[in-house]
Amino acid sequence: MSKARRKREKPISTGSIAFRIGLGSGLNLLLIFIVLDLVVLGILLLPDLKNGPGAAEITIDSFNALKALLREWKLDILLRLEGLLVVLWVLFETLRVRAKLSPLQEFADAALKLSEMDGEAEQRYQKLENAIDMLSPAEDDQKLATGDAELAGLETAVNKLMARMRDSYRQQARFVSDASHELRTPIAVIRGYADMLDRWGKTDEKILEESIQAIKDESESMQHLVEQLLFLARGDSGRVPLNISGFDLSEMMQEVWEESVMIDKAHDYRFESGGNIPVCGDISLLKQAARILIENASKYTPEGGEIMLKSLVADGHPAFSVQDSGIGISESDIPHIFERFYRADDSRSKQTGGSGLGLAIARWIVERHGGHFEIVSRKDIGTRITVILP
Ligand SMILES: Nc1ncnc2c1ncn2[C@@H]1O[C@H](COP(=O)(O)OP(=O)(O)O)[C@@H](O)[C@H]1O
Ligand SMILES: [Mg+2]
Repeated sequence: MSKARRKREKPISTGSIAFRIGLGSGLNLLLIFIVLDLVVLGILLLPDLKNGPGAAEITIDSFNALKALLREWKLDILLRLEGLLVVLWVLFETLRVRAKLSPLQEFADAALKLSEMDGEAEQRYQKLENAIDMLSPAEDDQKLATGDAELAGLETAVNKLMARMRDSYRQQARFVSDASHELRTPIAVIRGYADMLDRWGKTDEKILEESIQAIKDESESMQHLVEQLLFLARGDSGRVPLNISGFDLSEMMQEVWEESVMIDKAHDYRFESGGNIPVCGDISLLKQAARILIENASKYTPEGGEIMLKSLVADGHPAFSVQDSGIGISESDIPHIFERFYRADDSRSKQTGGSGLGLAIARWIVERHGGHFEIVSRKDIGTRITVILP
C-alpha cells in the first residue's frame, strides 16, 4: 500500500456558498424595486414637471423639494419597507439554499472524516496484508485472524473462500490419485500377461490365446476408463459444450430401448412410453446418461431379469426412469453412489467390471440440464433411478 499522504483539502463550506447566492438574489430584488420606484416617481411628478422648470435643471433646492414631497406623499415609508424586504429576502434565500445544500455538506464532512482516518486504515490494511501473507494454502486449520473487530466480516469471507479453495483442491488431488490407482491395475495386468507370453506363450498355445484375450479385454476397459476420466476432466474445466435442441423424450427412450434389446440378450427389456413429452436439451448427452443407468441395471441384475424403461411426466416435469430387478443398493450406499470411483462392496464382490465413474458422469450431465435424480432401491429386489428434468 502506498505510504504517500494525500494533501488535505480545505473542506467545502456550504454556508458561504448559500450566502453568496442569497445576496445575488437580494440584489436582483433591489434592482426591481428601484425600477418600480422610478416609474412611480415619474408618474407622480409628471404634472409638476410639465408646469415647472425642465428636468435638466434639477438643483439642490429641487432635490430638497423632492425629499419634502416624498415625505408629504409618505413615500419614505415605502422606501424603508423595500429596504427591509430586501434584507429579509437575502436572509431567507441564504437559509433556503443552505438547507438544499445540506446533503453536500454531509458528504464533505464524511470525506473529511475519511481522509482523517486514512492513517489508521493504512495501518489496518498493512496488518491484514501481513496476516494473509502468513497463511499457508495447504494447512487446513489455518485461519485468517488479526483480532481486529472491524475486520471480522472480511476475515470470515476470506476464511470461507480459503475453505472452498482447499476443498476443491482436495477433491482434485483425490481424483488424480484415484485415477492413477485405477489405471495402475490394468497396466499391471497387461504387463503380467505380456511376461507370461514372453515365457511360455511361444510354446503353449493355450497360454498364448488366454494372454491375447486378457490383454485385449484389459486395454479395452482401460480405454473406457480413460474416456470417462477425460469426460469428467473436460466437464470440470467447462469444456463440454451442450448442443441444445428440442426433441421428444419418449422417442429418445424408445431408441435407447431398441438399442439395449439388440446389444444385451441376457435381460428382458421393456419400455413404457408416457406419450409425447417435448423437452429441450442435449439429446446425445441425455442418451448417454440413460445408457449409464441401463448399463448398471444390466450389470447388477441376474440374467433373465426384467429391466423396465419409462418416459413420463412427474409432477409436471419431464422424466425418464430405469428400473431393474437386481441386487439393489443398501441405504447406506445410496448417498455415495454418485461420487467418483465409489462402488458398493456388493458390486465389487460380484466381480463385474466397472470404475465407479458411470453415475458421476450421469450426474454431471443431468445437473448441467438443471435436473436431478430420484432413487428407490431395495436390497435383492431391485432399483429404480428416475431422472427428472426441469
Ligand atoms: N442398478 C443398480 N443396482 C445396484 N447397484 C447399483 C446400480 N446402479 C449403481 N449401483 C451401485 O453404484 C455404484 C456406482 O455406479 P457407477 O458409478 O455406474 O459405477 P460402476 O457401475 O462402474 O461400478 C456401483 O458400483 C453399484 O455399487
Ligand atoms: Mg456403471
